[in-house]
Amino acid sequence: MNPASAPIGVFDSGLGGLTVLKALLDRLPDERFVYVGDTARLPYGTKSRSTIRRYLQQNVEFLLKRGVKAIVVACNSASSALEPGDSWSVPLYEVIGPGSRSALAVTKNRRVAVLATRATVAGGAYPSKLQELSPGLTVFQEACPLLVPIVEEGMEADPLARELVRRHSSVVVDQAADTVILGCTHYPVLGEVFRRMLGDAVTIVDSSRTLADELQGDLRSGRVAAAADGRVGAGASPRVELLVTDLGPRADELAARFLAPHGAEPARLVDLG
Ligand code: DGL
Repeated sequence: MNPASAPIGVFDSGLGGLTVLKALLDRLPDERFVYVGDTARLPYGTKSRSTIRRYLQQNVEFLLKRGVKAIVVACNSASSALEPGDSWSVPLYEVIGPGSRSALAVTKNRRVAVLATRATVAGGAYPSKLQELSPGLTVFQEACPLLVPIVEEGMEADPLARELVRRHSSVVVDQAADTVILGCTHYPVLGEVFRRMLGDAVTIVDSSRTLADELQGDLRSGRVAAAADGRVGAGASPRVELLVTDLGPRADELAARFLAPHGAEPARLVDLG
């Protein structure tokens, strides 16, 4: 087991996974994190399963070489490409299970909609997980390929964002789902737009808080060695090392937006090899 003082690795296809890291920073004040955003190869959500699996393996191996004590696959598209036999030398957390458990905890009419990238929808990981956990549950899926660029462009208050959210909300309304999973790193940024569109009768869930709870549980139980109180994270700054595979002109601005109110050092360029 890597030492308690080792960081937790988090990766995503880009910077959207910082929405997941934000929930981890909120919940785990003593921990440090290394975040890898594979910005050179973003998006993953339009790519084939075999390509996404190759990228997933490279991200995991890169983080293992940096001595992390656990790895969080923040990307839904990469999480949905995991296979049951996959195993690594540190605990690996993904987002499909926590997102599904959050939805099951709140649905009353057992009709759940999943909004995600094309790759996540095509992989069917959410319907499989939801039905494995709760046989007979009805699941509807819809790919929303334009929502990632809308969020990347900071256009969540734009009428175009509202129009796209309206279109993608119709699967929820037409199928009378009472719960919708925002199954992509970027969509929680549009959470308020979805909330206004869908009203209080529909519960909107994303995986990040449940994932943070589950990781916190494992730090408490010792499955992952917890940083000693106050020694590593609390008071120690920075808590996030931000690494990207392409350092575009907007990297730090996007990172600040996704992570707020938490901060990070300026992003640094790495090669996943
Ligand atoms: N991070 C991806 C996901 O959660 C969204 C962006 C992409 O397509 O790479 O599925």
